[in-house]
Amino acid sequence: MSLEASAQHPAVRIENLVFSYRKREPVLDIEVLEVPAGERVFLHGASGSGKTTLLGLLTGVLSAEQGVVRVLGTDLTSLSGSRRDAFRGERLGYIFQMFNLIPYLTALDNIILPCQVSSSRRARVRGPLEDEARRIAARLEITSLLDSRPGELSVGQQQRVAAARALIGRPQLVVADEPTSALDSDRRDLFLDLLFDSCREAGATLLFVSHDRSLEDRFDRSLSLSDVNRALVKAT
Ligand SMILES: Nc1ncnc2c1ncn2[C@@H]1O[C@H](COP(=O)(O)OP(=O)(O)OP(=O)(O)O)[C@@H](O)[C@H]1O
Ligand SMILES: [Mg+2]
Repeated sequence: MSLEASAQHPAVRIENLVFSYRKREPVLDIEVLEVPAGERVFLHGASGSGKTTLLGLLTGVLSAEQGVVRVLGTDLTSLSGSRRDAFRGERLGYIFQMFNLIPYLTALDNIILPCQVSSSRRARVRGPLEDEARRIAARLEITSLLDSRPGELSVGQQQRVAAARALIGRPQLVVADEPTSALDSDRRDLFLDLLFDSCREAGATLLFVSHDRSLEDRFDRSLSLSDVNRALVKAT
């Protein structure tokens, strides 16, 4: 789908979503949450309030038993697990809170992985894939680490590899879960500059979860999960 077509509907539209882990009390109960295409949203909330769970549902890692989770025009609840994985690989950039790097692949191979999984994502990269990975890595100052495996890297270095992997191939929605938690202020600023540049160039929507409220002024909107999550209201 072209960027113009995807701009016609919101990047995210949640309706009547209820999600619980196994048979427990709901973690999320959201009547409506909409993020317009191209918006950059800062999402915050107490530890354990359900931020990572929400991102898991928006990226199809988790599936809701009730409600609509429409992402870039596709209702993820109507897709099988493998179709959700394919959708994520093609169209989303997800910086996981725990990074989720593949331990037996080098940093370089981790970064290019989304473009190897999805041919349409690969097609959005002009020129050799490795050159694009090296361009992104240079901006995050991890060029010298590209032959290392995740277990040989510091936590902040792993976080930057995870960020590079999410940003390669112009994803239309970038979802970042505490992506600066392990970074010093210089590396944090390099990452944020790259993140905003990448989203602007791709016309992408950004959903950024962080406890660091000093960053929120850089975003179009700041959203507290407790303002939209009725499960939290019930729990307190
Ligand atoms: N895999 C799981 N199985 C069962 N319960 C879970 C699981 N993952 C999270 N939870 C529970 O769901 C709730 C929300 O967790 P979540 O990870 O979404 O919070 P969070 O807002 O991202 O917190 P943090 O700021 O600490 O990262 C918590 O009560 C947590 O214990
Ligand atoms: Mg979390």
